[in-house]
This record gives sequence, C-alpha cells and structure tokens, in this order.
Amino acid sequence: MNFTSSDRAARFTESVIREMTRICLQHGGINLAQGFPDFAAPMEIKEAAVEKIRGDVNQYAITWGAPALRQAIAHKFQTFNGVAIDPEQEVTVCCGSTESMIASLMAVVNPGDEVVVFEPFYENYGPDTILCGATPRYVTLHEPDWHLEEEELRQAFNEKTKAIIINTPNNPTGKVFSREELSLIAELCRQWAAIAVTDEIYEHIVYDGAEHVSM
Ligand SMILES: Cc1ncc(COP(=O)(O)O)c(C=O)c1O
Repeated sequence: MNFTSSDRAARFTESVIREMTRICLQHGGINLAQGFPDFAAPMEIKEAAVEKIRGDVNQYAITWGAPALRQAIAHKFQTFNGVAIDPEQEVTVCCGSTESMIASLMAVVNPGDEVVVFEPFYENYGPDTILCGATPRYVTLHEPDWHLEEEELRQAFNEKTKAIIINTPNNPTGKVFSREELSLIAELCRQWAAIAVTDEIYEHIVYDGAEHVSM
C-alpha cells in the first residue's frame, strides 16, 4: 500500500526536543535537551488525585472543564494576575499549554492569515501556525538582552495579521517581557484587530527582581 501522510503533516518535522531525547537514549548520553523536574509533585495534589481515583470519579467532565476547576482558575487569575474573568464564559480547560496554544490558534486563525512569532521561539509555535495554514511572521528578539525593536514589530503587522504569540517568561531566552513592550503589542493588536495568544507557563519562575506581567 502506498500510504502518505497529509500535506499538512508533511510540512513539519519531529520535535527537536524529542529527537534529541531519542538520540540521547540511543547513545546513553546526558540529556540536556528536555526538562526533568528535580522535585516531586506536592503531596496535596498527589493525595487529591489518589482520593478521586479511589472514589471512582471517572465520568466525563463538562467539555470545557469541571466547574470547580474553572472557578479555581478564575480565582487564581483574579488574585494573582489581577484580571477578573467569568469561569462560565471565559475559561476553557485544556490538556496543558501545548493543547491550549493550538486550540486557541485554530479557533481564531484562518488559512492565509499571518501570525507574528518572536524568535528564537519555543519549538511548537512553528508547527502550530503551519497546522492552521497560516504564515508565521518572525520578529527577532535581539541579544544580549533579547529586546525587541519597535519598528521591526510594527512592520510585522498588516491587514493579514490575525494573531501574535507571546511567551513570557520566555523559553528559550529567559526574557521577561516588560509592561512597555506588552503595551506596544496591545496597541498593535487593537490597531490591526489581532489576538494576542500568550503562553505564560513560566509565570512563577522569574529571577533578578524581574516582574512577570500577564497580558
Ligand atoms: C514555553 C513552553 N510552553 C509549553 C510547554 C509545554 O507545556 P505542556 O506540557 O503544558 O503542554 C513547554 C515545555 O517545555 C514550554 O517550554
């Protein structure tokens, strides 16, 4: 049988992180490519999971997330990020940041649209835009402090721009976007009717007095 993958799937390659891990395992190397948590999950979380498993809590949750979890997320967003959100209308629970990002982009981006991506970028954002049929518009974060050039960012936006991906604190650079930079991005999003899709997975990991500002 002459089986071929879809054109969409053929346009991107294996994850670089997984590839490095695979090769590392093959050669017995020390794997610096992948994150390995060096601490256990908090006992309360483990106990709560065990309790629910033993209690046969095994039915489908509401598709967009169990109500108690959405309420807890809204509470955290209000108290930690300072933004009031409605758990019934404005929270959708996904399986991690990876699914959240692709689901969000799929929900707003059409084939032919453009998505602004800062580079260097976390490797999933390239395939994410390709899966949407969109064209990534890369904007460089400049060394040594990974600042963005306002004019370069302005040039990246146009009538085709549908979204911009922001990852702060940033993988791989560690850059924490400043309030001024985020304000500029917000201004451009309003001007061009684009959506800012943010990945703030490292919001609790900031150093040297840096302040995480949630978009
Ligand atoms: C910036 C960033 N976003 C998302 C992920 C993956 O998140 P999740 O495991 O929640 O899908 C990673 C993991 O390395 C990451 O560095």
